[in-house]
Amino acid sequence: MARILHDAERLRPLPDNVSRVLHMLDGQDATAAQLAAVIARDQALTAQVLRVANSAALGYGPSCANVKDAVMRLGFKRLRTVVLGLGASGALRKRLRGYLLGAGELWRHSLAAASGALWLAKTLSYPEVEEAYIAGLLHDIGKLLLDQHVQEDYRRIVEMVSERGLYLWQVEEDLFGIDHAGAGGLMAEKWHFPVPLVDAIRCHHAPSLARTQQALAAIVNVANAWTPADSFASAPFGGRPVHPEVFQILGLAQADLEELRRDMTDAVHSGMEVV
Ligand SMILES: [Fe+2]
Ligand SMILES: [Fe+2]
Repeated sequence: MARILHDAERLRPLPDNVSRVLHMLDGQDATAAQLAAVIARDQALTAQVLRVANSAALGYGPSCANVKDAVMRLGFKRLRTVVLGLGASGALRKRLRGYLLGAGELWRHSLAAASGALWLAKTLSYPEVEEAYIAGLLHDIGKLLLDQHVQEDYRRIVEMVSERGLYLWQVEEDLFGIDHAGAGGLMAEKWHFPVPLVDAIRCHHAPSLARTQQALAAIVNVANAWTPADSFASAPFGGRPVHPEVFQILGLAQADLEELRRDMTDAVHSGMEVV
């Protein structure tokens, strides 16, 4: 545990421009023009903000060509999601040797979980759909922090999973004193994410432990369970069932969940556009 905390302390901050925009959004007194001015200094941010503002999913008329229009069209809430997502995307695309994830694999898993969480939030009328998307996108971010340690203890982990039938996160907790969800929570705290988002990441395998918005953690738990497994989570490591607490938190029966799963698979696979 001490090693992981130490790593979390030394974690790189989010890219400068990303932090600056998030900070301005938190302050709540920035204008669209001021935000646009900071965004325009960063090529990747500019491209992403324009892309999302002009995406067909928003269903607006003529396209907007400048950043200020794009910021106004998105609104500050959605802008926050776009900026956070971009801030994390670089790291999530990396190869994770410990978890046996090739370059881009965790990113694909994360995007799929994000689309699923967005769909579930909309379908279940969870009010903060942007937050659900970003929570899905970032739920496994703690794997970045644990990867090195998983790699070092790989043989023991495989043994514990296959012989004792434990889930990966249980083994992580046994060996390191913290699982990748807890490690992700530490990272989210360090980056000053809002509490519901910190908790959704930290509690995505045990949603009732979330301090606020257990529904958000439950949505991420479900979206993750229904997302095609990343390689470490697939056989022989066992699947990822929906946590039993989810039914009560979201007020769903088993039959509801099965129907939701069919609908979500159809919607997400039909290429639903997301933030
Ligand atoms: Fe996870
Ligand atoms: Fe996951």
